[in-house]
Amino acid sequence: MKLKIGVIGAGTVGGGVIHLLLNHSEHIKNQTGAELELKHIVEIKPDLLKPFDLSNVTVSSDIETLINNPEIDVVCELIGGLEPAKTFIIQALKSGKHVVTANKMLLAKYGDELCKIAKESGKELKYEAAVAGVIPIIKTLKEVLSTTHIESIYGIVNGTCNYILSRMTYEGLDFEPVLKEAQANGYAETPPDLDIEGFDTAHKCQILASLCFGTPVPFDKIYVEGITKITHNDVDYANEMGYVIKLLAIIRKVNGEIEARVHPTLVPQNHLLASVRNEFNAVYVESDSAGPTLYYGKGAGRFPTATAVISNLLDLAYRKESPSLPPFIYYHNLNIRDMGLLLSRYYLRFTTKDYPGVLGQICTILGKHQVSISSCHQKETLSYHKALPVHVVIMTHESLESSLQSAVAEIDKLDCIVEPTHVIRVLQ
Ligand code: HSE
Repeated sequence: MKLKIGVIGAGTVGGGVIHLLLNHSEHIKNQTGAELELKHIVEIKPDLLKPFDLSNVTVSSDIETLINNPEIDVVCELIGGLEPAKTFIIQALKSGKHVVTANKMLLAKYGDELCKIAKESGKELKYEAAVAGVIPIIKTLKEVLSTTHIESIYGIVNGTCNYILSRMTYEGLDFEPVLKEAQANGYAETPPDLDIEGFDTAHKCQILASLCFGTPVPFDKIYVEGITKITHNDVDYANEMGYVIKLLAIIRKVNGEIEARVHPTLVPQNHLLASVRNEFNAVYVESDSAGPTLYYGKGAGRFPTATAVISNLLDLAYRKESPSLPPFIYYHNLNIRDMGLLLSRYYLRFTTKDYPGVLGQICTILGKHQVSISSCHQKETLSYHKALPVHVVIMTHESLESSLQSAVAEIDKLDCIVEPTHVIRVLQ
């Protein structure tokens, strides 16, 4: 069981894979019997390779030398992004090499196409590191839970956002400096907008949804909302009411359709997901025969992600010549449910001028749109601050998303409202 490996990219994850292959190969062999041999690295920034002793490894700056290297069994694509990663993966598969990738964005957008090319080439495309770092969630969904019907998945799958929200919640820190720490720790994407605007979570949501429902999920059908509008006030008010704010990927089957959405969510403090802090990820899966299961671990950072890449290399070492499960199997073509049909409870934070009748106007509009109020809080202001805007926090009963959005749009046009209303959905 010997596998000769080429690595494209020696950045955060690639550098981690190179380190583990160079320094842990003896241990891996003792533990598994598999010999993972690093033979070739493609990297255009020589500085990234300085920390390694590469005396037995071919190093080049062009992909052709790796693709044409007949010794190589498997190529690890660890540069991320759409291009040239997509072209490199296709070239590797077509030249008869297996591919292991951590590239969630590429899979979310072109997983279907890459899966077909892998199948036609008779090679494997493996991507455990693309979702939730070291947590073996892909293997779990494809193999362990394959006998169950998945009903829902609730995932904290972006380490950067969870790190930012956790430090805002538990240490009262501000968004910007914490984002800089996440970047320094190697959690954040480049640019970090992919994390904080929710797209990285949505990429992972797309992969999980296609996997567990056997249906293609067009990426642009996923509702995406990031964490950039969350303020200290929201974190504090949520806390006072017994919730923490988490960015969740939510995937559910509702009336034969798929709900796939990403947005900040109020999670009850006694829910298991509420205790997942910092760069840790967790995926909560509900299925018919297995019931609820929870998977937890570090979802970002050099070695947690590199460990997932190595686990795929081990799979390949074990079944190099025998067929295995294809990357995605589509046996349905289910509809992706319209976001307007969502039924949820909502946290609404209005920022309003403080004069008679304001609350009445807000509540009348909510009532007109069939949005029922579960609780309402307005913070007392000191008399000499009367001119300042105040926050009114309303929790609703279960309401229809489209009605709620119409109500908020109408309320935001009132003269008394001084900034767009914050809407956060509540986990039920
Ligand atoms: N930027 C990603 C995160 C890296 O913060 O989770 C892991 O996919």
